[in-house]
Amino acid sequence: MIRSGSSPTAALALTALVAAAASFAMHHVGPLAAHVAPWAVLAMGSAAVAAVLVGSVLAPREAAAPVVMLSGRPADVARLDGSTIAFCSELHTRALPHGFFATLGSRFLSVYYRSFADSPHAVALIATVDGYPVGFLVGSSRARAHRQWVLRHCGFRLAAAGAVALLAHPRAAIRFARTRISQYRRRLLARGGDTSGGAGPVRDVAVLNHVAVLPGTRGVGAGRALVAAFESEARAGGAQTAYLTTLDGDEGAGAFYEVLSWEPGPVRPTADGARMQEWSKPLDSGVPA
Ligand SMILES: CC(C)(COP(=O)(O)OP(=O)(O)OC[C@H]1O[C@@H](n2cnc3c(N)ncnc32)[C@H](O)[C@@H]1OP(=O)(O)O)[C@@H](O)C(=O)NCCC(=O)NCCS
Repeated sequence: MIRSGSSPTAALALTALVAAAASFAMHHVGPLAAHVAPWAVLAMGSAAVAAVLVGSVLAPREAAAPVVMLSGRPADVARLDGSTIAFCSELHTRALPHGFFATLGSRFLSVYYRSFADSPHAVALIATVDGYPVGFLVGSSRARAHRQWVLRHCGFRLAAAGAVALLAHPRAAIRFARTRISQYRRRLLARGGDTSGGAGPVRDVAVLNHVAVLPGTRGVGAGRALVAAFESEARAGGAQTAYLTTLDGDEGAGAFYEVLSWEPGPVRPTADGARMQEWSKPLDSGVPA
């Protein structure tokens, strides 16, 4: 299991708060009798120890590099379910740190990945070797229908988890206010009048949102197996073309998609100033991933 990054800040802040409150009480509320002082010191010490314990439980854990032993067997691909959602959210924060959602923390990401696991229009896959998860892929065979389903069934949960995450991550909140509020409002207003439920005349397309493989298990075919399973599920769902975007240049995974016969498209800047390249693949081309 991957653990995410940590700091003792919460424990130290709690300790300082308790010590300051006790000191204030001793000096201003009432002078202590001599026989009470040792008990007061003992109480303060216990409070400080308790604060450190509570703080260290609440603080995120130190990131421990996962140790993976591969048996050489090819990866198996199965549907993502509740038991592997934590794996996806933790791998997302490590393998895809440039995206905005990664800055919201693994609790928000768990709600986000749950929406893929539950949506009837999503393609949500997990790759395992010898029963251990090594990678995941999420996307949808009908992207428009999937977005509408998520908005209707998970919109409140996602918004609540997002609000809590923004409160807990001030830097993400500033980034959100600077780059996203007006964009999200525009999108919501644009969607307000659409009641087709994804069954309208515009043909829906498949979208691959995220794919990642544990660093220690890359290069042995798990990524290819996940993308191949995505393509065949999207094709079976009726999509003719699949799309994705990845960071332009060496930081992105363009070379990987090129090997899998996807075609490069335009490069566009994001609200954060990153450059994302679009890739597409006709699903009736018969070229496997
Ligand atoms: C991209 C990623 C999912 C690939 O997973 P993987 O399990 O290592 O890929 P595979 O082993 O199945 O590789 C399939 C083919 O792609 C090639 N390939 C994989 N990564 C590559 C890269 N970065 N550059 C060039 N070729 C690459 C492999 O050599 C292999 O080709 P071959 O079969 O001809 O030898 C993985 O590197 C990863 O998690 N990266 C970080 C997250 C990320 O960038 N995700 C994509 C964001 S959209």
